[in-house]
Amino acid sequence: MTEAAFAPQDAAALLRWYVDHGIDETIGEEAIDRFALPPPAAVAAAAASAASTPASSPAAPTPIRAPAAPAVVRAPVPLESPQLAEDAREVSRRAATIAELEEAVRAFEGCALKRTAKNTVFADGVAGAPVMIVGEAPGADEDRLGKPFVGVSGQLMDRMFAAIGMSRERDLYITNILFWRPPGNRTPTLSEQAICLAFTRRHIELARPKIVVLAGGTAVKAVLNTTEGITRLRGKWATLTLDDGSEVPALPTFHPAYLLRTPASKRQSWADLLSLDKRLKDLGVR
Ligand code: URA
Repeated sequence: MTEAAFAPQDAAALLRWYVDHGIDETIGEEAIDRFALPPPAAVAAAAASAASTPASSPAAPTPIRAPAAPAVVRAPVPLESPQLAEDAREVSRRAATIAELEEAVRAFEGCALKRTAKNTVFADGVAGAPVMIVGEAPGADEDRLGKPFVGVSGQLMDRMFAAIGMSRERDLYITNILFWRPPGNRTPTLSEQAICLAFTRRHIELARPKIVVLAGGTAVKAVLNTTEGITRLRGKWATLTLDDGSEVPALPTFHPAYLLRTPASKRQSWADLLSLDKRLKDLGVR
């Protein structure tokens, strides 16, 4: 009798390990269209082979799915092309309102992440609120529900802002630099960030917040166009200059997911929140 390579409990433990490390989807980074028709060369070879079959040979089984139309081979989209970020900039510039921008993001097909995501995650909270929070990317919960920061890290973020009397129902507008979940929560590529960032910069212009809070190193690096790490930058006010020439004070702070892993850093985040509260009071917003 051959022994099983894995005891069932080992396989379950392995699956749990995958999920703990964010590997919760059996997909690749690129969707494979298994319904795509074969390229013309393969079609021609198959036709030639069928033509050479003697007439007396037994009839071939009827194919379940006969090709309904001549083979059309789609040109692969070059997913890392800088042209895609330029396209995103062009499309976003044409949006005159947040609603138009949202429509443009939902219709945009130039970001590979959209192919594997369940939902486009655009924003939550009050458009036009004094504080706009920009995070990194939707996770599994956000992808499922179509709203940013609704999982455990979002719940921590809500509690932190509630501690200074702010809520997404009244004073916060929340988005991410990416509108689609990267498979398995992997770090978004620079190309994916550049494409979505074009929309996010326009999003900030149109929302006209008094202050932008940048949650986590990826958002800080992308929005402030810096290579400095979050540990150095958190709590230090920066000025974000937008494409229309307007300037917005920006506060880098730790990502709530980092705080869940490193609770000792909550002390620094509390200092950031107090600094935000003071700045809002200085601006006469609170
Ligand atoms: N992390 C983010 O950066 N954004 C979300 O929306 C959720 C988790």
